[in-house]
Amino acid sequence: MSTAVAVAHPNVALAKYWGKRARPGNFPAVPSLSVTLDGMSTRTRVTFDASLAKDEMVLGGRTASESDHARASMILDRIRRASKEKRFARIESSNDFPTASGLASSASGYAALALAASTAAKAELGIDVVSDLARRGSASAARSLFGGFVELASGAPEGDENEVLPAHQVAAESALDVRVLACVVTEASKTSSSRDGMAKTAKESPYFSAWIDAEHRFFEEMKRALAAGDLATVGELTEKSTLAMHACAMSAGVVYMRGITLELFDVVRELRKSGAQAWGTSDAGPHVKVLVASKDALRSRAVLEAVPGVLRVIESKPGGPARVVEQG
Ligand code: PMV
Repeated sequence: MSTAVAVAHPNVALAKYWGKRARPGNFPAVPSLSVTLDGMSTRTRVTFDASLAKDEMVLGGRTASESDHARASMILDRIRRASKEKRFARIESSNDFPTASGLASSASGYAALALAASTAAKAELGIDVVSDLARRGSASAARSLFGGFVELASGAPEGDENEVLPAHQVAAESALDVRVLACVVTEASKTSSSRDGMAKTAKESPYFSAWIDAEHRFFEEMKRALAAGDLATVGELTEKSTLAMHACAMSAGVVYMRGITLELFDVVRELRKSGAQAWGTSDAGPHVKVLVASKDALRSRAVLEAVPGVLRVIESKPGGPARVVEQG
């Protein structure tokens, strides 16, 4: 037996990824920029074991769905091809936050899996290849291998399925003095996966090409603002990218926001009016994450916790990279 345990944090995209290239290999159609969140984590153990007749995957104590299992096996197959390890593996993964509900559990999940599996297989792939492997499970997962502020470029429109497209750190944890307040509004899983939502959006939204153009611009502007330490511009662009992504998805009938989501965006606008530096964002689920200057975090958190429908608020600083915590 050969085993390794890795821990990875989820990340929240400030400039959003939504939409894939029409080519195999899960390549994003737009570039994205995220911040890694230290307040939440996934812990994954991968054990290669000669007594197994197939790969096994347990998520939070339950057998994984067929689609999660297939994606994990695809990553394991790539690692087996790139190493001397040929045995099947058992994957045991757990999150300390709600799973599959738009809090980016797939990002930390596939990042931890790719790192634990390549370590257990003694594959020595290098962080770029591990990030690329995670991207094949869930594109946002490529970003969770890294700490601080992280970019994932858009893939080329055409090309070889095996092209390596990793994420990269663009700024350290300390680049902006911020917190992210994740307002949890349900413990339930989402009903439409981001993969299905993106496919439907690309097919049915009348605004899809406008979104692709706009997001390239948001990303470039945000990268410049981040390099200049300009939190206000990063925050404004975060809300713009979020609302543009959801407007595009909604126009295809893909609706992740709920009443409480929109209400929270209003609360965040009110916080700004009262002088706080705070901006909202949300992903493929109803929760709202609030990017806030550290000096305004305490007050903003109290306001958000008092909104009916908010179950709890998980506070994060910009977090560190994924790491191996056990090996043997
Ligand atoms: O990586 P996926 O397939 O789970 O898609 C993530 C999409 C968003 O979370 C909505 C945006 C992003 O860039 O993380």
